[in-house]
Amino acid sequence: MINRREFARIGTLVVGNLMALALAVPGVAYLLDPLRRGSRASAFRELARLSPLKVGVPLAVPVVEAREDAWVKYPPEPVGLVWLIRQPEQAKERVIAFTAECPHLGCAINLSGDGKSFLCPCHTSAFKFDGTPLNQVPPRGMDRLDVSLSDDADPTVKVKFERFRTQSEERIPLG
Ligand code: FES
Repeated sequence: MINRREFARIGTLVVGNLMALALAVPGVAYLLDPLRRGSRASAFRELARLSPLKVGVPLAVPVVEAREDAWVKYPPEPVGLVWLIRQPEQAKERVIAFTAECPHLGCAINLSGDGKSFLCPCHTSAFKFDGTPLNQVPPRGMDRLDVSLSDDADPTVKVKFERFRTQSEERIPLG
């Protein structure tokens, strides 16, 4: 049989624990919130103007981003590299873009010595300027990125920067 004193003690304990829980849940949720937030969805980024791009001549443009993790904001820094290639006037697309990340193991793809193709210095993956492989080293061609041009007289070239799984024949975006 519980006497009045024990009943009061148990009541105080229960109320105290409920109050602690009521305070703790929002606190924990606040602390975990940045971790639950997904990374910024891929968006079109302004990388260049159309006029300086020469038809058929690839231009490497760094993608710069101000990162932010759970509790720290970092200053802007390069997070990737994109190759832009202006196409001839009659082409369907005015500019095509590739991520410079090699589909083999992720090194940065550069121009070959003669400037007539792409070459990855790590294991010699080579590609044409349309991204198709020139040898058997890479598992697939270079990864194309979506491009959008503004309507201005000198359009801005915007690219949807994405990263893809390496060592895969399929082009699989990384979340
Ligand atoms: S990472 Fe490019 S060839 Fe291996």
